[in-house]
Amino acid sequence: MKKLILYIISTLTVVVVFAANYKSKKAGYFPIDEPEVSTKQNAFNTMMDVVSHQRCVNCHPSDNVPKQGDESKPHHFGIARGENNLGFQATNCNTCHQPENNVYSGVPGAPHWSLAPASMAWQGLTRSEIAQAMLDRTKNGNRSHEELIHHLTEDDLVLWVFQPGTDQEGIPREKPPVSEEDYKAAVKEWFASGAIIPEN
Ligand code: HEC
Ligand code: HEC
Repeated sequence: MKKLILYIISTLTVVVVFAANYKSKKAGYFPIDEPEVSTKQNAFNTMMDVVSHQRCVNCHPSDNVPKQGDESKPHHFGIARGENNLGFQATNCNTCHQPENNVYSGVPGAPHWSLAPASMAWQGLTRSEIAQAMLDRTKNGNRSHEELIHHLTEDDLVLWVFQPGTDQEGIPREKPPVSEEDYKAAVKEWFASGAIIPEN
């Protein structure tokens, strides 16, 4: 009988300790961890809503052919990477792509228009894989985090996606679903909070 009482008491203690522990973990979890995790996730997701958009990925293909349009079809006229990512002599990108969008012909334009090098191929990758490739110095043109922030928020080709103009039929090209201002803020926030790539 004594043994049984002891047994009950000890089981009860274990249950009480467990419950207390569970409660304090639960209580601590919401105010401390969650908002922080979700702001980081938000900055990543906001940034990647732009970075993984077809406007960017059309120039970062996984083969040698730039893509065009919202369906990312292979570029007209058999345009390919050629030498130095600038196309072939007769079809050099800058023969057609000027420093500004051409409102009459529908040819998009921005300074130094060219195809991203093969190491910067993002087409077909998940958001996390794109982010990994983007941070990888063996693939990204040996850029540090500071240089990446600069490229992502200042480069002419990057900023073009917020004013992509109209296509040959006069139909506006789709813009990424995030404003230029929110995108830049998200890039800075994501790097400042450690450039953590969520698994997916
Ligand atoms: C012979 C002229 C010509 C040459 C050369 C040319 N392009 Fe284009 N490019 C166009 C035209 C015209 C369009 C617009 C098609 C449309 O949207 O209706 C276009 C569209 C694009 C787009 C689509 C943008 C988008 O998101 O829809 C990309 C990317 C592109 N070109 C990259 C390149 C690259 C890189 C090169 C060089 C390797 C190149 N182009 C060479 C004429 C050319
Ligand atoms: C007209 C083609 C074009 C478009 C559009 C374009 N890029 Fe690029 N991108 C390039 C080229 C070319 C390079 C290589 C430039 C260099 O290394 O100096 C590059 C390099 C980069 C790099 C550095 C390399 C790396 O892998 O980290 C980043 C980051 C990048 N682009 C992001 C973007 C983002 C984000 C967008 C859309 C908002 C975009 N690009 C749109 C052509 C383009």
